[in-house]
Amino acid sequence: MGRDEAMRARRIVLAQRPVGLPRDDDFAMETVDLPSLADGEVAVESLYLSVDPYMRNRMGPPTGPGPAQALGSPVAGGVIGRVVESRSEAWTVGDVVLGSYGWQTAAVLPEGAVRTADTHGLPLTTALGVLGSTGVTGYFGMRDVGRPGPGDTVVVSAAAGAVGLVASQVARILGARVIGVAGTEAKCAYLTHEARLAAAVDYHRTDFADALAAQCPERVNVYFDNVGGPVSRAVLGQIAMRARLVVCGQIAKYNGEPPEGDETPIPTLLLHHGASMQGFMVMHYADRAAEARAQLAEWIHQGQLRYAETVVNGFDQTVDAFRSLFTGANLGKLLVHVGDQADHSRA
Ligand SMILES: NC(=O)c1ccc[n+]([C@@H]2O[C@H](COP(=O)([O-])OP(=O)(O)OC[C@H]3O[C@@H](n4cnc5c(N)ncnc54)[C@H](OP(=O)(O)O)[C@@H]3O)[C@@H](O)[C@H]2O)c1
Repeated sequence: MGRDEAMRARRIVLAQRPVGLPRDDDFAMETVDLPSLADGEVAVESLYLSVDPYMRNRMGPPTGPGPAQALGSPVAGGVIGRVVESRSEAWTVGDVVLGSYGWQTAAVLPEGAVRTADTHGLPLTTALGVLGSTGVTGYFGMRDVGRPGPGDTVVVSAAAGAVGLVASQVARILGARVIGVAGTEAKCAYLTHEARLAAAVDYHRTDFADALAAQCPERVNVYFDNVGGPVSRAVLGQIAMRARLVVCGQIAKYNGEPPEGDETPIPTLLLHHGASMQGFMVMHYADRAAEARAQLAEWIHQGQLRYAETVVNGFDQTVDAFRSLFTGANLGKLLVHVGDQADHSRA
C-alpha cells in the first residue's frame, strides 16, 4: 500500500544536554515529512510512548553502557504503535507493534525494527509496562540476582514504581517478607493493600531510618536498590550478615545532584557483613525476556501479582511526564498516550 502525499510526524528532539533536572529548552518540538516507503518498510503511528529514568542518563553526560542520545535526534525509547502503511510481507495495515523509535508520533521503519506486542491477554499498555522492559527488569533482578526465599527480609526502594512494583511482588511470591520504600503515604498504602507487601515506609518521614529499622527486626537480607542516595544509606545501615545488594538503578543521582553527606563506605560494609553486591542490566537477560513475560502474565491472571500504570494524555505532555519521574508523580509504569495530538495530516 502506498500514498501520494507526504505524511507528517511530530517529534521531540534533544536540543542541548541538560544540566540538572531537564528544562523545556533542552528539547525542541519538530514537525517533519516522513519519506515514502521503500520495499520492506512500514509506516507506524504511535499510540503510547514510554518515558524512563535511563533516558536522562543518555541525555548526558552519558554514564551507562548504552549509546549517548544524539543532539538533534528524537529521544529514543519504547513505543506501542499501529501500522498505517506497509510495503512489507511481514506486516499489514492495522497490526499493533512494539518499536523503539522514541518520542515521535509516527515513523517509517524497516520491517525488522518492530515486533508483535505480546500481551498474553492483558491490556495493550502492559507491553510497555509489566510485560515490557521494566517488568522484565524487576523479574530477573529479583529472581536471579536477589534470589530471595522464605525467611528473608527484602527491602525495595522506589517500590511503587514500574520496576519496584514488580521486583517487590516477585520477592513476596518467592516467600520473602518484603518492605517497600516509597515517596508518599498513598503509595505506601498501595504497596501494603494492593501489592500485599508486609510493610511500606515513606522515605520523606524525618524518622525514616528508625521507621525502616522497626520493620526489619531480623535486619535486611536482600536490598533491591532503584534509587541510591539517602534512602540507600538508611537501608545499608540495616543489612544482615551475608546480605545480597542488588544494584538496579540510582535515580537519585541521575540529575547530578551532589549526594547529601558522606557516601556509604561500601567495601567496608561488604567486608564486615560478608555481603555481596551485584549490578545488572535488563539487556543481560534479553534472550530470556519471553520467559519473564509468560511468568508475570501467569501470576497476574492468577491474582498473585498486581500492576499499576500512570497514563498521561497528549504528546505535548511528554517532557513534563518525563520530568515527573524525578518527583515521583507516577504509580507503576509511566506512559504517554499520544491520542489525537499525533498530527498525521498530509502535506
Ligand atoms: N538495571 C536495569 O537494566 C534497569 C532497567 C530499568 C530501570 N532501571 C532503573 O530502575 C529504577 C526505576 O526505574 P523505573 O523505570 O521503574 O521508574 P519508576 O520507579 O517508575 O519511577 C521513578 C520513581 O523513582 C522515585 N524517585 C525519583 N527520584 C527519587 C529520589 N531522589 N529518591 C528516591 N526516590 C526517587 C519516584 O518514586 P517515589 O514517589 O517513591 O519517590 C519515582 O516514581 C531507575 O533507577 C532506573 O534507572 C534499571
